[in-house]
Amino acid sequence: MIHSEIETLLNNQIKLEGNASMQYLSMASWAEANGFNGVATFFYNQAEEERMHMIKLIKFVNERGGQAIIPVLDQVLKDFKSINDVFETFLTSEEKVTNHVNQVVYQCLQLKDYTIHNFMQWYVSEQLEEETLARTILDKLKIIGNDKGGLYQFDKDIETFSVEVDNE
Ligand code: FEO
Repeated sequence: MIHSEIETLLNNQIKLEGNASMQYLSMASWAEANGFNGVATFFYNQAEEERMHMIKLIKFVNERGGQAIIPVLDQVLKDFKSINDVFETFLTSEEKVTNHVNQVVYQCLQLKDYTIHNFMQWYVSEQLEEETLARTILDKLKIIGNDKGGLYQFDKDIETFSVEVDNE
């Protein structure tokens, strides 16, 4: 069985992954509407990836004898000042998810639930990967600055940064 405190935390995690998925879909749409097709592809992929993170949690909670709650999601941001603003939002969103993953991990240790602690390690690694990706991209954008040609090339290159959708 699953401890009720951990069940609640995992349900919060489900909501955070769902929110991230919808936020990235909104960023993909903004990028596409503004002519940044590479950035749009990147965020369409990220949105899929976050959806997969959410579903993995839903299945896990139910398999452990809990009940996964399909959440009402928050309103997402839809207007962005720039590509830099889009990727700042990406990093902030990932940091928020990481903080919550850490809370779940902490609580698993407090309650000595090593099975869920073990399951959550996948999310710990995933968050490290995604935060690093966001920071690397922001570093590149800092170098590009206001150079329009650089931004054009960045949009072409960004698709290669895209993390493969992992269906594990
Ligand atoms: Fe699954 Fe990157 O949050």
